[in-house]
Amino acid sequence: MTLMWSILTSLLLLLQSCTGDKSCEIWSSAGDVVQRGSTFRVYCTFRLKCKPSMYSGHKPRHQDHQTYNSSTIYLDVKNLTEDFTYSCDCGHDSSNTENKPDSCGLDIFVGYPPDQPTNLSCINHVSEQNLSSAVVCSWASGRKTYIKNEQKLWVRTFTHDALEGSEFFGLTAKGSPIVRAAFTVKSSVQVISIQASVTNPLGSAETQEKNYSLSDIMMPPPPVLHQVDCSSRSCSIKMKENVPTHHLDINYKEENEEHWTLNPNLTVINVSTHVQSLQPYRTYHFRVRSKFRTGLWSDWSKTVSKRTQEEAPARALDVWYAVHRNSLRIYWKKLDISVAQGHILDYIITVYNQSLTLNASSDKQNISVPFCSNCDITVSARNSRGALLLLKSPSIPLEPKLFLCQ
Ligand SMILES: *[C@@H]1O[C@H](CO)[C@@H](O)[C@H](O)[C@H]1NC(C)=O
Ligand SMILES: *[C@@H]1O[C@H](CO)[C@@H](O)[C@H](O)[C@H]1NC(C)=O
Ligand SMILES: *[C@@H]1O[C@H](CO)[C@@H](O)[C@H](O)[C@H]1NC(C)=O
Ligand SMILES: *[C@@H]1O[C@H](CO)[C@@H](O)[C@H](O)[C@H]1NC(C)=O
Ligand SMILES: *[C@@H]1O[C@H](CO)[C@@H](O)[C@H](O)[C@H]1NC(C)=O
Ligand SMILES: *[C@@H]1O[C@H](CO)[C@@H](O)[C@H](O)[C@H]1NC(C)=O
Ligand SMILES: *[C@@H]1O[C@H](CO)[C@@H](O)[C@H](O)[C@H]1NC(C)=O
Ligand SMILES: *[C@@H]1O[C@H](CO)[C@@H](O)[C@H](O)[C@H]1NC(C)=O
Ligand SMILES: *[C@@H]1O[C@H](CO)[C@@H](O)[C@H](O)[C@H]1NC(C)=O
Ligand SMILES: *[C@@H]1O[C@H](CO)[C@@H](O)[C@H](O)[C@H]1NC(C)=O
Repeated sequence: MTLMWSILTSLLLLLQSCTGDKSCEIWSSAGDVVQRGSTFRVYCTFRLKCKPSMYSGHKPRHQDHQTYNSSTIYLDVKNLTEDFTYSCDCGHDSSNTENKPDSCGLDIFVGYPPDQPTNLSCINHVSEQNLSSAVVCSWASGRKTYIKNEQKLWVRTFTHDALEGSEFFGLTAKGSPIVRAAFTVKSSVQVISIQASVTNPLGSAETQEKNYSLSDIMMPPPPVLHQVDCSSRSCSIKMKENVPTHHLDINYKEENEEHWTLNPNLTVINVSTHVQSLQPYRTYHFRVRSKFRTGLWSDWSKTVSKRTQEEAPARALDVWYAVHRNSLRIYWKKLDISVAQGHILDYIITVYNQSLTLNASSDKQNISVPFCSNCDITVSARNSRGALLLLKSPSIPLEPKLFLCQ
């Protein structure tokens, strides 16, 4: 919010040096920072005898003031909900505008005292090879205050060797509604004690002191998933870790699935591992996270997607036929993607008794063959891995003879 008075006064300062003192002094009974919804008085005391007037607003509008005593006027302000400007003036004396003393003004800022910070927690980020660590603490600041807050994190460090003593320091924290502060600690530090505080002109609040053992809050950086190789039913996963860790979780899910499946607690051999029991010709998403022997799980790595390889179709087609004078028209239903197990290239139609084999392209769903009686006909879908062999399957062969015997 731009406040006119601050701008005006900086301009008027120049004039003031020529024209002398201000004509009045202005103040509020509640100070210049007030709580939202406050009711209070704004007073102006005049140094000279004049016809006083009072204004308010960013585009100053004349207000009907009350008289306090012979030199002081006031205005009752009710339920102020936003920053506002007030000013007083010695009424216009048209005879002598040049030497008219300056008016006086006041910016009132409206806000709330700070809420008590909640959810204070810290993470000890262990990064890179030399195991240096940065502790990041965060908390929720609660309701917006609309005025400037001073947010601090107070830290006391303890080493296992009492002789090394403890250190105590305060850090400026930033952010809203989540506030953060970060610091580094020496490797000898084992325990930290922290407390968050916030202060503004309307009040202050602080959390309880909280103790952390650094080993309980250490977190590795997320592993980098850098290679996924899949056969039709399993994928091998290679990852890179900046810091060696002890536990690894792999999450995977099929494309379009909502929930991840957890492959938990894997023993990682040379940062490479396998996910088994997958389905052919599906796209899977993978992500991993890691953990030291103690402490917190890292964030999840970036997701890597990979499609498993094809397998020959898993199920026979639904096939039926109709008789047309001198021919048979064979019909079939397309395979569902879940049993096609690959991209269907074409259909192979075999009429055994006639030693006849036909191909139909993948967009076809019927074909005409010469009429035959008591013959066996099979239709199989073919993908890059082949077709389901149906010679032994009794479900598909057709027996047009049944028709013809009538
Ligand atoms: C009027 O009231 C103001 C504020 O209390 C005080 O400073 C001032 O001296 C008073 N003036 C007279 C003439 O009583
Ligand atoms: C104060 O002003 C706000 C906004 O104009 C209004 O919602 C609220 O009811 C008022 N409160 C009182 C006590 O008048
Ligand atoms: C504090 O943490 C709890 C549990 O993690 C969460 O449900 C809640 O929303 C958090 N509160 C704030 C203000 O962030
Ligand atoms: C070890 O950590 C310190 C502090 O973070 C850093 O300045 C330094 O470059 C790191 N050294 C190596 C070899 O990574
Ligand atoms: C935190 O640890 C310090 C040092 O051991 C101890 O003096 C203090 O009482 C502990 N505070 C809490 C809240 O446990
Ligand atoms: C994971 O591994 C840890 C340590 O090896 C073990 O204590 C824990 O029981 C394991 N959890 C599961 C779910 O296997
Ligand atoms: C780990 O991987 C590296 C590089 O891929 C290889 O040289 C090494 O032999 C592997 N170690 C084990 C124990 O498999
Ligand atoms: C056609 O072939 C099937 C199986 O190969 C056989 O059972 C059937 O008798 C044959 N029909 C004729 C007319 O040869
Ligand atoms: C059907 O397609 C397969 C694969 O392209 C091919 O080997 C075969 O000869 C074709 N058969 C006919 C009858 O066209
Ligand atoms: C046979 O399949 C073709 C497409 O390949 C289609 O246009 C046609 O309508 C089908 N015939 C019958 C009788 O269903």
